[in-house]
Amino acid sequence: MKMRIAVLVSGGGTNLQALIDAQGSTLTSGEIAVVISGNPNAYALQRAQSAHIPTEIVEKKRCGSQEAFEAALEAVLCRHKIDVIVLAGFMTILSKNFTEKHPGRILNIHPSLIPSFCGEGFYGLRVHEAALRYGVKVTGATVHFVNEVPDGGQIIAQKAVDVLPGDTPESLQKRVMEQAEWILLPRATEAVCAALQEETL
Ligand code: GRF
Repeated sequence: MKMRIAVLVSGGGTNLQALIDAQGSTLTSGEIAVVISGNPNAYALQRAQSAHIPTEIVEKKRCGSQEAFEAALEAVLCRHKIDVIVLAGFMTILSKNFTEKHPGRILNIHPSLIPSFCGEGFYGLRVHEAALRYGVKVTGATVHFVNEVPDGGQIIAQKAVDVLPGDTPESLQKRVMEQAEWILLPRATEAVCAALQEETL
């Protein structure tokens, strides 16, 4: 049986698109069963709908508290019988209370080589601005398991990308996505799903 994957998004969803496109090729041990958005206006929702994947919206501000938000999320995951959770640009931090219920089953993609340029406040273009400010010549992307420490869980896979002279945060973000994120996330998701499938055999 394929592992049932929930992809959690808040924005454009290019990593979600990479997972959708990988289904049946790189991604064979799991299938995207639902896309859950923390933002009702996320373009990622349209990507899911175009691929005929069910969508759900769980907004923290409408839930009122972290506890109520996570309870709502758990209810959606349970309803869709989810085995694996992939955070693909999901902007709401998950508490220890939530993450410890799903050990080894929540993945996140971060656009740098952890432990550089990661943790609280390092999201979006800020990550690439920090890399350029520091002057690193190589950056990349990391897929890791999620625990209560932002970007602090066990590393699953990393891919390096060159920083080039004249790079802007935008040009670097684009190269990291194209050369690392969109390749790495489907591969790492497949590896986790395949390992979990083995366990359940
Ligand atoms: C990506 O850079 C990802 O690494 C980070 O958030 C961004 C999401 O982009 N966690 P998208 O919504 O997948 O296009």
